[in-house]
Amino acid sequence: MAEILPADKALEPALALLRAGEVVAIPTETVYGLAGDATNGDAVARIYEAKGRPRFNPLIAHVSDMEMAGRIGRFDPLSQKLAETFWPGPLTLVVPLKPDAGIHPLVTAGLDTIALRMPRGFGAKLIAALGAPLAAPSANTSGRISSTSAEAVAGDLGPRIRLVVDDGATSVGLESTILKVEDGKVRLLRPGGITAAEIEAAIGMKPERGAKGIEAPGMMLSHYAPAAGMRLAVEEVCAGEALLAFGPQRVKGADRAAATLNLSPSGNLREAATNLFSFMRELDRGGTATIAVEPIPVEGLGEAINDRLARAAAPRGTESGE
Ligand code: TXA
Ligand code: MG
Repeated sequence: MAEILPADKALEPALALLRAGEVVAIPTETVYGLAGDATNGDAVARIYEAKGRPRFNPLIAHVSDMEMAGRIGRFDPLSQKLAETFWPGPLTLVVPLKPDAGIHPLVTAGLDTIALRMPRGFGAKLIAALGAPLAAPSANTSGRISSTSAEAVAGDLGPRIRLVVDDGATSVGLESTILKVEDGKVRLLRPGGITAAEIEAAIGMKPERGAKGIEAPGMMLSHYAPAAGMRLAVEEVCAGEALLAFGPQRVKGADRAAATLNLSPSGNLREAATNLFSFMRELDRGGTATIAVEPIPVEGLGEAINDRLARAAAPRGTESGE
């Protein structure tokens, strides 16, 4: 069973495990990650195994500074500008992989590009101390809800890993935004903690939505799935349903709900993003058959929130293996 250690006592124990090719669950500002040394094939294989990821989808390599990033990936001027603006932070950039960067091919699933991100806080300290990038997908069993607290990680992956580093609830609550620059254009592969408007403000260009084909498997359906069914943008709550509410106004039949949690009583999307995964877990624990979700505006962080909700509501059995 995993040990949970507070971040201020966890650096040395985490380093020892990583140096031995083991995996460690670590806090980042977005969600908790299941980290392993990206240059060590055994460690990366252990990540896939612990998550029960059915096939090898490429992972994000986390770096501690721009120099490390530059040793791994080739940055065109637009990617460079995005990195300078948003790193450290909830942005992942897909860039061409330098072939002699030492990244194990399991990280990229053999692609000639690599997803790079510079996280804030404990993760950055750990990577700098290790002197190597950390491959880290979200710390959850494949296809299930991402973890935004150490307790959620331990409750999900506890029997399969040795250490969870606890730095409290994550501040963003949603995974990073994934961008890829191609032919001088910026493509949005996954909406996340940085909004389209923030990207446009930084580079004077709107990111283009949608990948060509399925490039980021996180864009596939049936993801972030609770055990309960999900009904989105409901106009009325049916008897026995749990309600995931948003804002000051309640939908019809809200008093019939078996349980209610409000993502943000004031209607603040940032607060709603922070609460999304933990509230989905909590309503799911109540054992209700269906979680009804009130409409959430598709603007700013609402784009990423609605993206995650749509995946949670998608028909099951089409797991993307995240
Ligand atoms: O906030 C986050 O991004 C969290 C924290 C732990 O950093 N990580 C995360 O990782 O969400 P994961 O593995 O759950 O999602 C990574 C996504 C996947 O959808 C994967 O397909 C995509 O990144 N990806 C990775 N490498 C790629 C590449 N070379 N080209 C396109 N997509 C890639
Ligand atoms: Mg994930």
